[in-house]
Order: sequence, then structure tokens, then C-alpha cells
Amino acid sequence: MPRPSAWSLVLPSLLVLSLAYFAQSYISPLGPAPHLGTGVALYGAALSSLIGHAQAAIMAPFHTKAQSGSEIQMPLAQPHLTSERPDAETATETHEDIFDGDVDADADPRPRFKRRIIAVGDIHGDLENAHRVLQMAEVVDEAGYWTGKVDVFVQTGDIIDRGDDTIELFQWMEELREQAHGVGGTIISLLGNHEWMNAIGDWRYVYPSEIETFGSISERQKVVTTGWLANTWAGNYTTAARLPLHSLLGPPNTDYPPPEDGKNAHANAGPLSHAAFSFVHGGLAPSYSNLQPFPSAINNISASLLHKLRSRDPQPPPHPPHAYPGLPAGTTREEARMYGSDGPLWYRGWAEGDEARMCAQVDQVLQKTGTRRMVMGHTPNMRNIVARCGGKVLIIDTGISRAYGGVLSALSIDYSLEPVKGGGWKEQEVVKALYAEQDDELLVHATRSLAVDALV
Ligand SMILES: *[C@@H]1O[C@H](CO)[C@@H](O)[C@H](O)[C@H]1NC(C)=O
Ligand SMILES: *[C@@H]1O[C@H](CO)[C@@H](O)[C@H](O)[C@H]1NC(C)=O
Repeated sequence: MPRPSAWSLVLPSLLVLSLAYFAQSYISPLGPAPHLGTGVALYGAALSSLIGHAQAAIMAPFHTKAQSGSEIQMPLAQPHLTSERPDAETATETHEDIFDGDVDADADPRPRFKRRIIAVGDIHGDLENAHRVLQMAEVVDEAGYWTGKVDVFVQTGDIIDRGDDTIELFQWMEELREQAHGVGGTIISLLGNHEWMNAIGDWRYVYPSEIETFGSISERQKVVTTGWLANTWAGNYTTAARLPLHSLLGPPNTDYPPPEDGKNAHANAGPLSHAAFSFVHGGLAPSYSNLQPFPSAINNISASLLHKLRSRDPQPPPHPPHAYPGLPAGTTREEARMYGSDGPLWYRGWAEGDEARMCAQVDQVLQKTGTRRMVMGHTPNMRNIVARCGGKVLIIDTGISRAYGGVLSALSIDYSLEPVKGGGWKEQEVVKALYAEQDDELLVHATRSLAVDALV
């Protein structure tokens, strides 16, 4: 009797696993749940193209639904288009004291330092595109799990509204946070103006089909004001973030200026001072009054306003059809300003303002916040990430969600500090726009030499 061919043995089990995969995918479009375990992992490679087809087939109905929904449901604001290309502003910064000696990390006992950061802007209810972007940037793998290839992932807010995938997106972020934490990675999550709108009761951009995913209007309202999502926002999201590029400057959200006796004070005044980026959803206006200490001044105001919103009893019914509830009784002037048009959630000056006038003010904001560059979302450009003011202003909302139909993009920041033969250090910042469907673009390549041996 002829031996059965390898395929006749493998195919039935592949079929069973594919069916299991279909069933799982239907429940979680991100891929197999952990309990499918090693069986799936073994067949993973063979299944990957099948999985692609399965996911496309499964996701397809949602496309049509969301698109037709978006036409009906978006009567208010249309996305703003700007026409500028970042090319003109692409910066290649070098310092006068540039040292072009050899970096010889192997022979030098001093350790080199490297950190990779990925930032992604507005996602607006589109799990499939969010997954494509995070996979493209190597934050997650094909099945949606944290890869460990990125040290810090920053999302600059507006995960909610204009799409149906609110629940899955926020749950996925919490799963990733856990996975990242387990291998020394970090996720920084910001609240956008749309998360705040939902916390307030402003539902102008909520799709009816998305409300169905929560079960009912009242269930959704509970979840976004006092339930699990409101708890997640209060616990793991902030309105502003400061990310030091080097761990010597402290963990994420180390304040600038540092408290004088604080343990990061010395490093933040040393040769690495201002080696940090800021992240907010809208922008840090030069006129905004709570820039210092950054980011805790903003985040404390944010936490206290969120607390007041969560404490309303009863919660006002959502607008529309009910009247806009506004900010709660007892809102302070600072809290109202944080949610105002020159506050960090809504400000568009860096994206829309006159280039010469805006760029003349950028250094004062960087100086105050202890940063070199500021990253923000909120104002979409459908073709590319926008770098202005020599790469000091980076605007990363490219309309990723199919509600906008922009380009799939992520910002990558590679920071390194390498010992130079004979003394000193070479510091490098390489900032790139990564795209799923067009060539990546170098936005900043800044090099400086530090003529010191001790960094703190
Ligand atoms: C915040 O994230 C941590 C994981 O880093 C998780 O254990 C915790 O449950 C999250 N908190 C909320 C309120 O979701
Ligand atoms: C922010 O709140 C924390 C905790 O309550 C407090 O220690 C800190 O001093 C506050 N910072 C500012 C700038 O208000």
C-alpha cells in the first residue's frame, strides 16, 4: 500500500485549524486568541496567506457599512486639508562642534545607548487600519501581539468616534500595554479631543452602528463616563506626555523643569538637557498658560476635570439629540482653558499658522517644556506626516481611518548615544515618516557631539 502523501496528512488538520481560525477571527479580527496556543503557532507560516484572505473576507462587510454610515453621519466638520509638503522643512541639523571621529563601540567600555520610538496619530474607530499601521511599524506582529522590537509606542489620542471599533481598539491597547510591560516596553496613551467629547457627553461624531457595539445608548454612556473605558482613561491615559530620549533623564513624564532636589534634576540640567519629545493631541500653544512644569501641570488639570465629569450624578443625556451638556458645575478656569481652543486638545496653530510667525515661537515652547521637538495629531494631512520649523514640529495625523481615507503612517524616532574613540559621545536622532503604501521619508537627521565623558 502506498504511503499517504505528506499533504494528505497535513491538509485535514490545516482545514480544522483554518476553521478554528475563522471562528476566532470572527470574534477577534486581530487573530487567534492565546488559548488556540501552539497548534496554531506551528501552522502559522503555512496559514498566513489563508489568514490574510480570511481577514479580508471577514472585514469586507464592515467597510461598506462604515463607509455608508460615514456619509450619513458626518454632517458637521470635514477634515481639513493642507497642501504643504514636508520636503521644504526637512532638517539636517548639525552642530558646529560636530566631531567626525570614529565611533568605536566595541573597543570602548562605555555602553552605547539606543532607543526606538514609534508614534501613531488619530485612529478613529478603524481596527483594521490601526493593525496595518502598527504591523508596518513593527510594533505588533501579524496576529496583533507586541513584537518587542520597539521600546516605546505612543498613540496621540482620538481612537474613538467616526468608526465602529471603539471597544476592540481600547481593549487591544490594554492588552498591548500588558504585553509591552512584560518585556520592558512602554506604551504612552494620550486622550484626544474626541475621548474628552465622549467623557463630556458630546456624541456628535458617534456612529449609530458603533452605539450598537455597546448594546444601547445608556450602556455606552455608562462605559464612557463611569465604566471600564472611563476607568482606563483615568488610569492609563493622560492629556500630555514628555518622553526623555535617554533613560538618564528619567522615565516617561519626568517633569521639566525638574524639582530642584529631584533625582533627575542633575541630568536634566546636564549635557543631555532637553533631549526629550513632547506629545499632545492638538498642540502646545505658545500662549497656553500651563506649560510648566511639563507635563504634570496639564495632566493634573486634566485628571481633576476628568474626575468632575465622572462624578456627575446623574450623567447628562448625550448630545445630540439632547442639549450640549458643557463642562460640569465647578469647572475651574484652568480646566476650561485646558479644553479650550488654545489648550493642548484642540489647538491647531502649529499645523495651520503662518510658517514664519509660528516658527519664531517654537523655541520658547521647547525651552519651557524641556524638549527638542513636539509631536501632535488632530489636524490631518491626507498625504503625509508634516514636519515644520526644521523638524521641531511634527504633525502625525494622516487620516489613517477609512472615515478619512488618508495614508497609513507612523513616525519613527531612533535615538542613539555612542562613545567616541578618545572621549566624548556622538548623539543621533533620526526621525522618519513610515508609510504602508509609499516610500518612507527622512524628516530629521540630527547629530551632535558631546565633548564630555560623564553625562550626568
Ligand atoms: C492599566 O494598565 C495596566 C497594565 O500596564 C493594567 O494592569 C491595568 O488594569 C490598566 N488599568 C486600567 C484601569 O485599565
Ligand atoms: C500634580 O499632582 C501631583 C499628585 O497630586 C502632585 O504631587 C504635584 O505636585 C502636582 N503638580 C502640579 C504641577 O500641580
